[in-house]
Amino acid sequence: MTPPPGAATPPQGAAPARPPGGGGDRPGGPLKHLYSGKVRDIYQLPGGRLLLVATDRISAYDYVLPTPIPDKGKILTRLSLWWFGQLADLVPNHLVDAPIPAEFAGRAMACQQLSMIGVECVARGYLAGSGWHDYRRTGAVCGVALQPGLTEGARLPEPIFTPATKAPRGQHDENIPLASVAGLVGADAAAELERITLEVYRRGAAIAAGSGIIVADTKIELGYDAQGRLLLADEVLTPDSSRFWPADRWRPGRPQPSFDKQFVRDWLDSPEAGWDRHQGGAHPETGPGTPPPELPGWVVERTRALYIEAYERITGDRWT
Ligand SMILES: Nc1ncnc2c1ncn2[C@@H]1O[C@H](COP(=O)(O)OP(=O)(O)OP(=O)(O)O)[C@@H](O)[C@H]1O
Ligand SMILES: [Mg+2]
Repeated sequence: MTPPPGAATPPQGAAPARPPGGGGDRPGGPLKHLYSGKVRDIYQLPGGRLLLVATDRISAYDYVLPTPIPDKGKILTRLSLWWFGQLADLVPNHLVDAPIPAEFAGRAMACQQLSMIGVECVARGYLAGSGWHDYRRTGAVCGVALQPGLTEGARLPEPIFTPATKAPRGQHDENIPLASVAGLVGADAAAELERITLEVYRRGAAIAAGSGIIVADTKIELGYDAQGRLLLADEVLTPDSSRFWPADRWRPGRPQPSFDKQFVRDWLDSPEAGWDRHQGGAHPETGPGTPPPELPGWVVERTRALYIEAYERITGDRWT
């Protein structure tokens, strides 16, 4: 297939270009704000480049929570930059050299503006989340049949590619078979996405294993540059895009302790939160629903500590 060349458009369902934080002295100063995802604010840089600013926003169950996690954006950015370096021989990435405005120091990446592929490229080495859910119902994940009798958190004989649609804001991503990806992007590109996703997963899992961390699954995003090359974009192998489990506490047959936002999801489901995310029957952006509650201080602190621990264990660096 011929990749669509040229400038990227904001992703389908992206929030309209609104200055984050409202008018007046808005962040970004003279930079043009293009759009905001759940976590990132994106600005236009000169020369067809983008500034991807990771905020401290946290999302769960497709809602952006009202309480930020201090330093989360910096942790995600520093960890992604580290991984881009570890993966550079496997797949080229979207990073470019450009000055980062001081107000975004540490939490922004300058990158090429790509024509993004509208598929979330997921690799799974273990059964969790929607993979576990689908397997329990159908014995397969994304059309990949798995042996019977696997339990929650089980290790798969081989990592598998389980792509998902990139759902418009307010809707859930949906797992799709490889054939549907081929229908969307062409058979050759679909095969490339699968190959790159599994290679990134294998490399990431092997490196993290050296620090006692299991990468249960991970999601990457790719896009085409103006020459039609497929580049690794967005963030990579972070606690927002991956399930990280402490290897010494891995026990198949139950949900696993993890270094990601599972902790926040569990709190949101607890009686203390008192939140019924299904109440109202709809998502706030598609209809009435109950917005999620503020996180208590101890949940914020614990979540921040988990993100920092993931960063420190994987990179071997101290978080300062
Ligand atoms: N190099 C790039 N060129 C164009 N768009 C990009 C590039 N890198 C990432 N993006 C897009 O920028 C956005 C990043 O914002 P954010 O991570 O908040 O997205 P989101 O998908 O809405 O949220 P979540 O990650 O919680 O699903 C995504 O839509 C992503 O596809
Ligand atoms: Mg994202």
